[in-house]
Amino acid sequence: MNNDIKKILISQEDIQKMLEKLSNEINNDYKGKKPLFIGLLNGCVPFMCDLLKYINVYCTTSYIKVSSYCGKESTGKINVLGSFPDVSGKDVILVDDILDTGRTLKECMRLLIENNASSVKICVLLDKPEGRKVDIEADYIGGLVPNEFVVGYGLDYNEYYRNLPYIGVLKEEVYSK
Ligand code: IMP
Ligand code: MG
Repeated sequence: MNNDIKKILISQEDIQKMLEKLSNEINNDYKGKKPLFIGLLNGCVPFMCDLLKYINVYCTTSYIKVSSYCGKESTGKINVLGSFPDVSGKDVILVDDILDTGRTLKECMRLLIENNASSVKICVLLDKPEGRKVDIEADYIGGLVPNEFVVGYGLDYNEYYRNLPYIGVLKEEVYSK
């Protein structure tokens, strides 16, 4: 699997530093509060798991799985699979691997507000600003990536590579396999 990687963009050490920076920011901002972390499955898993180890305020966790209604083009509409957590009156921190077009997180944000969350903030490991198609920004960002398809640490290509401990770019030949 490691042979499929053309280059490593973000090393394990870099990810570690991002986790420490993000958790410091969140711990400061949520002092005295009890945030509800909601992870977007499946991409959030390694990131959310590692991030939570550094959170030192009382918090609860939940997960949602969404599927995009995409035909050829993503419409921005998403379908929530399974139950939606009770967010009423909660300070929600929405956690995802990457903010790209922004469609998924924008729609999740709208659903959370519609379901009476007290506040909603977005925490992503990576931001790909050049990919943005809708107006939304994250509140907590581990790092920026260029407009390239990246895999690892939760990010997949055809469901593979989520288990890589770093973030990398695939060799071109992988896409033609
Ligand atoms: P968007 O911001 O609605 O376009 O969707 C973000 C989702 O698209 C992320 O949660 C990822 O699952 C996926 N995604 C976006 N960019 C990448 C990438 O470079 N590699 C792998 N998945 C990506
Ligand atoms: Mg994803």
